[in-house]
Amino acid sequence: MNKKTLKDFTFYDKTVLVRCDFNVPMDENQKITDDRRIQGALDTIRYLAKEGAKIVLISHLGRPKGKPDPKLSLLPVARRLEQLLGSKVQFFQDDLVISQETKDELGVMKLGEIALIENIRFRKEETDNDPAFAKELARIGDVYVNDAFGTSHRGHASNLGLASILPSCVGFLVEKELEFFSKTLENPERPFIAIIGGAKVSDKIGVIENLLDKVDFLMIGGGMSYTFLHAMGYNVGKSILEIEKVNLAKVLMQIAKDKGVELLIPIDHVVAEEFSNDVDFWTLDSENISDDVMGLDIGEKTVERYSDLIKKAKTVIWNGPMGVFEMTNFQSGTEGVAKALAESNAVTIIGGGDSAAAVEKFGYAEAMSHISTGGGASLELLEGKELPGIESIQDR
Ligand code: 3PG
Repeated sequence: MNKKTLKDFTFYDKTVLVRCDFNVPMDENQKITDDRRIQGALDTIRYLAKEGAKIVLISHLGRPKGKPDPKLSLLPVARRLEQLLGSKVQFFQDDLVISQETKDELGVMKLGEIALIENIRFRKEETDNDPAFAKELARIGDVYVNDAFGTSHRGHASNLGLASILPSCVGFLVEKELEFFSKTLENPERPFIAIIGGAKVSDKIGVIENLLDKVDFLMIGGGMSYTFLHAMGYNVGKSILEIEKVNLAKVLMQIAKDKGVELLIPIDHVVAEEFSNDVDFWTLDSENISDDVMGLDIGEKTVERYSDLIKKAKTVIWNGPMGVFEMTNFQSGTEGVAKALAESNAVTIIGGGDSAAAVEKFGYAEAMSHISTGGGASLELLEGKELPGIESIQDR
């Protein structure tokens, strides 16, 4: 990697602004339901504390649209962070995020102390990447560290803005994420398989196009399968179908053929008459889908076919579920693929978002080589795009 890392700086007695992605899911009582993103930031925070830095953590939570919203306060994150670190985390409940009072408190921090400021998106200037706001933030610190991999596809004041003012580097979490993705995409051990799922082809066009240049096998699952099946001439019944993307599906299949990539489309499907967990469900082969049913998961034969290939792979990237895994009747496909990955000896990389949640739900998280903390960000990396939050960091 050509970007500066934590090891390129000395942090003793420096105030370090660390952008984290603490955008974690919470229930209606603001209880954190998945703290992987907080866990992911611990190494960088501990390292900086040991080095004698004064650590000011910055994050967003949700999309408060530039206004304070008590439901989106980072207070629960500060408390969880404190538990995980086993040391005090000062938190400033501040509707202005960096009012003069907060700045004064930050100005008297001692070496090794850790503070978290309030949800940076309470200020509209954040998502506007307002230069005056970035300058105001930059005045608090001496060095900027981007450890918010999940936010790196955004160009906001607390990443792009700060990195263009202060000396900057990436944190350990971003370094690890980039290492996994770049090693895999630039120099994968083969056979290299990509498994792409999710509801819509339109969300994954860029990813499929980019990966067709790199992989040996591309396995399709989830709702998007039906646009491909329709393009192949199958009846898809009431399944989700993007009729305007059928031609594109044909083009993608042709590109795969031209490049010698085996594009696998599900051969059987768990179907039901309604999108519900409370109705009958059964399995049909692709050629037998009738008008009155919708496909809601890949079937057993497809799982077996995909699993056999996954067993022989050396590298597997997975992004997007194989079915409606949130409903127990339609979880077997996603669970089966997760199991195959867990049992394979390949380097296994799980793009963030739904696939990460699925792997966690089925208890296979520990068996994966890497589970990304970024949904949108990992998708953009897989599309071959540059991430503004990373590009803006100083080169070595
Ligand atoms: C995410 O969860 O993908 C990141 O935290 C970015 O959030 P955003 O989509 O609201 O910018």
